[in-house]
Amino acid sequence: MNTVPDFSGLRVAVVGDLVADFYLYGEPTRLSREAPVLVLRHRREALGAGGAANAARNLAALGARVAVLGLVGRDRTGRELLERLEHDGIDVSDALARTDWQTPTKTRILGAEPGRTPQHVLRIDREPEQAPTDDARAALAGRLRARQGELDVVLGSDYGYGLLAGELAGTLRALAAAGVRTVLDPRRSFEAFAGLTAMTPNLGELALFARTGVEELGTTTALDAAARTLRQRCDLEYLLVTLGNRGMRLYSRGAEVPLEVAAAGREAVDVSGAGDTAAAAFALGLAAGLPGTDAMRLANAAAGLVVMEPGATACSLDRLRSALPSAPRVRGGLTRTS
Ligand SMILES: Nc1ncnc2c1ncn2[C@@H]1O[C@H](COP(=O)(O)OP(=O)(O)OP(=O)(O)O)[C@@H](O)[C@H]1O
Ligand SMILES: [Mg+2]
Repeated sequence: MNTVPDFSGLRVAVVGDLVADFYLYGEPTRLSREAPVLVLRHRREALGAGGAANAARNLAALGARVAVLGLVGRDRTGRELLERLEHDGIDVSDALARTDWQTPTKTRILGAEPGRTPQHVLRIDREPEQAPTDDARAALAGRLRARQGELDVVLGSDYGYGLLAGELAGTLRALAAAGVRTVLDPRRSFEAFAGLTAMTPNLGELALFARTGVEELGTTTALDAAARTLRQRCDLEYLLVTLGNRGMRLYSRGAEVPLEVAAAGREAVDVSGAGDTAAAAFALGLAAGLPGTDAMRLANAAAGLVVMEPGATACSLDRLRSALPSAPRVRGGLTRTS
């Protein structure tokens, strides 16, 4: 398959943890006299979409009609994050701004001489003290159910802030049981999502499920055993395990042999957000009716493009279309030996 389907008619809901990526850029001037630290002259600031918001942005960039269901704080960051998403054509009418929530914010301070690539100096995370309330989950679950008839796929994006649990997890399972395609990019919670169409864990998340370390999944045999257990225990049609610079591996219901695709063979610039791109493209591929193999190849090609740019970025449909013919092909998964 060398053509990307038309995703423009597809309707997607993204449910999950909305995160703000705040970037502060400064130019190094001198060492401070107050302490042995670098002094940066403030140059500019930018707000980016992170977590489920980045998944939503990736879906929109690929041409789908996207709605986000998630929480932001009733604060400036929350307001600006939703504005950012709206600017990308995303429906934010079912995102909730709540006084009992604080928008998780990753502030990255970057220093750069003019004309140079900015370098990370420090990151400060602002995180809510507690998980969202049952009440907030119930409100979003109700909004998700109200959209049921109009959705081609639901993408759950779990960044570990506790939203995707309880009634909201139950609603995802109920939608799956009613025949809606449901894909979860998981973090720590797996069994609560039994019966979904697919999950897209990375190696670390699969290791969490298997209660082991990433190193223990270093051989194909160990990786396949853990992945098969997860696919079976959660009764998934597909399990797509993303393997960073090694690509991805797909386990399918009714198929004995897993399939694998190698990562695009170039030096990555910034891998942040690649998992969101992969999950978004895989979910859209399934929503378009592609078999899992083709959806995996699309996901790998799209993720291979975003790692070539700094920051969490999204891959446009046009870029994916032009990259696909030369993107790595899927092969039988028995070839990797270590
Ligand atoms: N260094 C790399 N070179 C080429 N492709 C890469 C690289 N890192 C990641 N990718 C692509 O991105 C996909 C997802 O990456 P990864 O497995 O790191 O996901 P992740 O850990 O969930 O990422 P995130 O940090 O966004 O959550 C990989 O399967 C691969 O297709
Ligand atoms: Mg991820």
